[in-house]
Amino acid sequence: MTSNISIMQGVKSLKAIDVEGKKVLIRVDFNVPIDSHGNITDDRRIRAALPTINYCIDNNACSITLVSHFGDPKTPNDPKFSLKLIVKRLERLLHRRVEFIEDFEASKNEIAACSLERVFLLENIRYHAGEKKNDPELSKKLASICDVYVNDAFGASHRKHASTYGVAEFVETKVAGFLMMREIEAFAKALENPVRPIALVVGGAKISSKITLLKSVLGKVDKLIIGGAMSNTFLKAMGYDMQGSRYEADFVETALEVMQEARKNSVKIYLPVDVVVTDSIESPIDVKEVPAQDVLEGFKAVDIGPATVKLFSEAIGLSNTIIWNGPMGIYEIDKFSKGTFKIASAIAECYAYTIVGGGDTADAVDRAGEADNFSFISTGGGASLELLEGKVLPGFSLLDRADKED
Ligand code: ADP
Ligand code: 3PG
Ligand code: MG
Repeated sequence: MTSNISIMQGVKSLKAIDVEGKKVLIRVDFNVPIDSHGNITDDRRIRAALPTINYCIDNNACSITLVSHFGDPKTPNDPKFSLKLIVKRLERLLHRRVEFIEDFEASKNEIAACSLERVFLLENIRYHAGEKKNDPELSKKLASICDVYVNDAFGASHRKHASTYGVAEFVETKVAGFLMMREIEAFAKALENPVRPIALVVGGAKISSKITLLKSVLGKVDKLIIGGAMSNTFLKAMGYDMQGSRYEADFVETALEVMQEARKNSVKIYLPVDVVVTDSIESPIDVKEVPAQDVLEGFKAVDIGPATVKLFSEAIGLSNTIIWNGPMGIYEIDKFSKGTFKIASAIAECYAYTIVGGGDTADAVDRAGEADNFSFISTGGGASLELLEGKVLPGFSLLDRADKED
């Protein structure tokens, strides 16, 4: 049977085509986090796109046009979301000049002028209303400025937008960049023929989007280890009073269903047995470790406790494939970061295949100083979740197949 992952593995790679003299359009995911001063706080996504960009430069593409979204502007041209912000960093990493194009339609001739080593970066593609609507008119316009379309935006490959999906319909040659291929190979290793037992460690705040994932992975994993705000919803479902903790009331029922399904599938679920609680997140005065069923009145659970770290670490230690998505607590605040960092180390120390997805989880792994000790850190959050759910990501679906003749 052809699995969804193998469908994605079967796309044609950039390596298989000749880009010499061609106008290449590369969809990258430069949606990087920035601080309140506009400084890039993590340039992993830019660095991850360099092999594809450099390959096109080294193989004498006529011009290279980079397209990305940046944030999610609600009004067109909101300067807060301008990709101008990343030009300097990109130039530094590429060791060459990058020409910023505010209006790609007006600059069509410029882009078409064949002159080796010119790299263009288009302004935030989400400034165009047609991008998120996958408007064929925008797709056609993008197609008109290139001979070859390369999708290397793994982080946005779950989006069916004009630049991640629709454009491929109007370009003759459309292939996957090296990051797309690396990501899919890494997940294939964890999902296709994994060395069992497989543990999925989930946490974080995006409960509603991740809880549906849990339902769909029950047939694939052996252990489900749940922490963070996500576990508060499960603890609530078990009848505990979670007081002021973050949880999602609308998904308590779903949490119950997940627990029942897990039992049917012989998947073992691990939930916190103790939690760190605080009277306030912003200005904590009273911070304590309490049993999970004893969250004090007016307090919030913000991290897993030491007994839970031990329980989770043991379950992790006995696994051979570990997939992690979502921090165990509010790791951005020192006082509430211990659980997440200890779990990062527990996973890093395992003799196992270890893979991390999710922007905040990757950041937490970095802060824990464990980034080099994981098998793979994905640049995708939502995209990696949808992969785990077993979907074929739209960013792969219209690309040429590896077995297609040129
Ligand atoms: P990722 O980006 O890795 O997919 P999420 O965005 O789902 O992860 O979740 C990360 C966020 O979850 C962090 O900002 C963290 O502070 C928050 N979080 C984790 N545990 C809790 C908790 N118990 N209460 C409130 N927020 C939490
Ligand atoms: C991400 O940051 O997860 C990707 O860049 C996709 O961004 P989006 O969730 O705004 O589509
Ligand atoms: Mg996040």
